[in-house]
Amino acid sequence: MRVLVTGAGGYIGSVLVPMLLEKGYEVTALDRFFFGRDTLPPADNKLKIVEGDIRWIDPGVLKGIDYVIDLAALSNDSLGELDPIRTWSINHLGRLRIASLAKAMGVKRYILPSSCSIYGFHNHVVDERSEPNPLTTYAKANLKVEQDVLSLSDDSFTVVILRQATVYGVSPRMRFDLAINGMVRGFFKNGKIPILRDGTQWRPFVHVKDTSRAMIMALEAPADRVNGEIFNVGSDEQNYQIFDLARRIAESIGIPFKYEWYGLPDHRSYIVKFTKIKDRLGFYPLFSAEDGAREVWNALVEGKVDPDDERTITINWYKKLISEGIEI
Ligand SMILES: NC(=O)c1ccc[n+]([C@@H]2O[C@H](COP(=O)([O-])OP(=O)(O)OC[C@H]3O[C@@H](n4cnc5c(N)ncnc54)[C@H](O)[C@@H]3O)[C@@H](O)[C@H]2O)c1
Repeated sequence: MRVLVTGAGGYIGSVLVPMLLEKGYEVTALDRFFFGRDTLPPADNKLKIVEGDIRWIDPGVLKGIDYVIDLAALSNDSLGELDPIRTWSINHLGRLRIASLAKAMGVKRYILPSSCSIYGFHNHVVDERSEPNPLTTYAKANLKVEQDVLSLSDDSFTVVILRQATVYGVSPRMRFDLAINGMVRGFFKNGKIPILRDGTQWRPFVHVKDTSRAMIMALEAPADRVNGEIFNVGSDEQNYQIFDLARRIAESIGIPFKYEWYGLPDHRSYIVKFTKIKDRLGFYPLFSAEDGAREVWNALVEGKVDPDDERTITINWYKKLISEGIEI
């Protein structure tokens, strides 16, 4: 079975691709490789690497593909505001193009890794049936592409939406602009955990290996269990208020709980229920936020990840690429 993974060189893709190869899948990894090509293993007879853009890649890339996992996107809220037109063109139209081409080319299953950010702000617990409340361009584009790709689902084309919690953990394309990873890096560099104001906001979290595993489960589940369905990816236990999360992280690594505030008050806050993915797919995370924090801490201490690698703060890296004249 051959899987096309778009955005394969990114934070999640570069963890997912080796897991797929390990499970015996053949993989076509499609990416603009904005973060470099060295995040993936070298190409071989199981791994085909294609440098290209989801907005204009030749449809031939989908020939012989059984499944698509469509990760390519401008990947967070602040980055989405940098150039909203481009965010819509990649995150909505680009991914809709890949889904439509996949259907036309006879692909069996299309998985859209979306985001719990579509819930935006809710003062009660939300699940997949709750009214979305997207507050940013990134979240609005995610919601629109969800709706549009779901309309393509039929008996021969399975479409699954995975609304991921905020991800953490070490990846070959490291991201320190994600809450847990950024908190650990902040303490490592400055002796204080950076906390986004005002710290009372709620967020769900999931480890990068767990969300990758959820994608593989969505790929392998019987079609009638997942077709046309939306699943939140995470676990009820890993909903945290940001200030409490910071305290937990300090405790789990064994560092003093010293912190500093940054940013304007964050108006996004949501507590998410993850019962559906547990009941329907038997998904339950293997890693906790504490495991993730220790893993990131150890990687920093052992010099396995560079806290000053410019590519790890996604928006800054894209700003640099744009300033160098690279067309995003
Ligand atoms: N990391 C998280 O916490 C999180 C949470 C929820 C949802 N998501 C979603 O999961 C997906 C992957 O996120 P990530 O953290 O791996 O992000 P990432 O930025 O590390 O990876 C995205 C990849 O897409 C590629 N890309 C961007 N535009 C492209 C285009 N037009 N054509 C081809 N490739 C392109 C980039 O080069 C990059 O390698 C995104 O859709 C993101 O919105 C991530």
